[in-house]
Amino acid sequence: MTRAGFSRSRTELVCEDVPLSAIAAAVGTPLYVYSGATIRARYRALDEAFDGYPHRLHYALKANSTFALVQLLRQLGSAVDANSIWEVDVAQRAGFPPADMVFTGVGKSMQELAQAVPLGLRAINVESPGELERIETIAARLDRVARVAIRVNPDIDAGSHPHISTGLKINKFGVPADVARELMASIGSRPHLKLVAIHVHVGSQITSLAPLRGAAAFLAELAAELDARGLSLEYLDLGGGLGISYDGSDVVSPREYVAALVDEVRSTRLPIVIEPGRSIVGPAGVLVGTVIDIKRRAENSDFAVLDAGMTELMRPALYGAFHRIEPVKAATGVPRHYEMVGPVCETTDVVGRDRMLPTLAVGDLVAIHDVGAYGAAMASNYNRRPLPAEVLVDDGQWRIIKRRQTVDDQLALER
Ligand code: LLP
Repeated sequence: MTRAGFSRSRTELVCEDVPLSAIAAAVGTPLYVYSGATIRARYRALDEAFDGYPHRLHYALKANSTFALVQLLRQLGSAVDANSIWEVDVAQRAGFPPADMVFTGVGKSMQELAQAVPLGLRAINVESPGELERIETIAARLDRVARVAIRVNPDIDAGSHPHISTGLKINKFGVPADVARELMASIGSRPHLKLVAIHVHVGSQITSLAPLRGAAAFLAELAAELDARGLSLEYLDLGGGLGISYDGSDVVSPREYVAALVDEVRSTRLPIVIEPGRSIVGPAGVLVGTVIDIKRRAENSDFAVLDAGMTELMRPALYGAFHRIEPVKAATGVPRHYEMVGPVCETTDVVGRDRMLPTLAVGDLVAIHDVGAYGAAMASNYNRRPLPAEVLVDDGQWRIIKRRQTVDDQLALER
């Protein structure tokens, strides 16, 4: 039977039984490889954890919106969270109807709103009084009713990396509860707006239950208060944020997470929307790179220079993020100390600090794990490096879902 995800055969790392070295030989490196089976399994685990409680998963496209993966999520029955009008566009092209999309994001331009309002999205998640007014103006001009959700900032510490914690009142996201109350009360007398939900999202890569539960409790309480004032909602949007284990340590499971959400919200009887990104696609991707140079760093330590670095995977440079790295081929050499670095002219271009790995040689392939979320999606052309190729392995077959960019592709935009 094919094994889901990434595992080691006798001789090397495989994705659903397809050797990564075979894909790398055909496509070159740096290269993202995704496991379709892992995405399916992780989507289903979250979905089934609701155990009959009314809900909808709105996959957060920002984690990875490579088209074939967006289509795969659609086949699985997912809805989406789009964070820009361009993500809305991609989702539409992948077949998602507007009613299956929420449009989130702290800064939606007038142009984005003007395009979004006539679509009739499930909701535009509103981040400020000014944005609500702009939506209203556009809807009035079109003589439509815009469905809106108010993003509330609960002032909860997600306990994640400060760069990806969003729930404190000092963060730029959402509006405080008192402002939210005023906005919601005002919507009743604004005929071009319909309040359909309230929304929280307190951060990403959250590995303990307390902030996630706290945010749900906060929203449920606010919903109860609204209900008592005769304002009824269609659902509660609890955002994304469930973390994954990058280093093997324990994290909250989808079951525990969903059970806590349902537990906090059940008394409102409102359906739950969540916007998971990382927890669905994060563990479903590896970045395969080639060792292009080895050089002495200290007595007992070498630099291993890879053809994959911060241009392909920003997370280590940006957040000091840890990703497991291992050689693709079965290791024979004695363990040695390495600083695993990328080729870019930036000191922060280190994909793995302080690693003990079997002795590496130029030409060896290495795999950087758990990069399905916020990997390819955050890649850049710095140093004119081409965006990497991406491959999907599914049903024992692999195929290129994004070819490697060329200089021609880059220059095609330039005059
Ligand atoms: N909903 C909203 C409103 C969000 O801002 C985000 C992520 C999500 C949902 C999805 O969160 P997830 O389930 O993936 O945690 N680049 C960073 C992560 C930034 C997350 C931004 N917002 C990283 O590489 O860790």
